[in-house]
Amino acid sequence: MITFSDRKDFDPRLLLPLFEQTDWARGRTLEDTRIMLEHSDVIITGWDRDRLIACGRVLTDYVFRASIWDVIVDTAYQGRDIGTQLMQRILNHPDLARVELFWLCTRRQHAFYASLGFSDKEQTGMVWKRRH
Ligand SMILES: CC(C)(COP(=O)(O)OP(=O)(O)OC[C@H]1O[C@@H](n2cnc3c(N)ncnc32)[C@H](O)[C@@H]1OP(=O)(O)O)[C@@H](O)C(=O)NCCC(=O)NCCS
Repeated sequence: MITFSDRKDFDPRLLLPLFEQTDWARGRTLEDTRIMLEHSDVIITGWDRDRLIACGRVLTDYVFRASIWDVIVDTAYQGRDIGTQLMQRILNHPDLARVELFWLCTRRQHAFYASLGFSDKEQTGMVWKRRH
């Protein structure tokens, strides 16, 4: 049985295999991931017993805006409604009940997010990326 949690006190090391499955988060270090976990406002994780198999996290002011990042379901568990349940737990999280607008930063899986009610009609984003 898959369970979900909003606790942050798990070993950040468990996120690394999920990150390795994506092109944008591959290579993230344990130290950076630890800092990320500490400063994310809401993180939802999915678990198969003690195996972390899904994640999604939110940065927010708790009133006007929230942005959603790093929504990942382990490839072995995709297509089983886990991503949908995880997103619903984000959108219905009690700490985020006052948030007016959720902003999702993604170039992929528009069909998945559209099924959750997200619209891509307002394309207002620009990015600045630090070059190392
Ligand atoms: C996108 C992702 C989170 C979806 O999670 P999931 O658990 O597989 O999704 P679900 O089983 O809840 O599927 C929900 C719906 O989205 C659709 N869907 C899921 N993955 C899809 C894909 N790759 N392409 C098209 N539709 C997809 C499903 O068909 C389903 O639609 P249905 O209800 O009409 O059958 C997962 O595929 C994933 O982690 N992908 C890699 C990382 C990624 O791209 N994340 C999103 C960018 S931030």
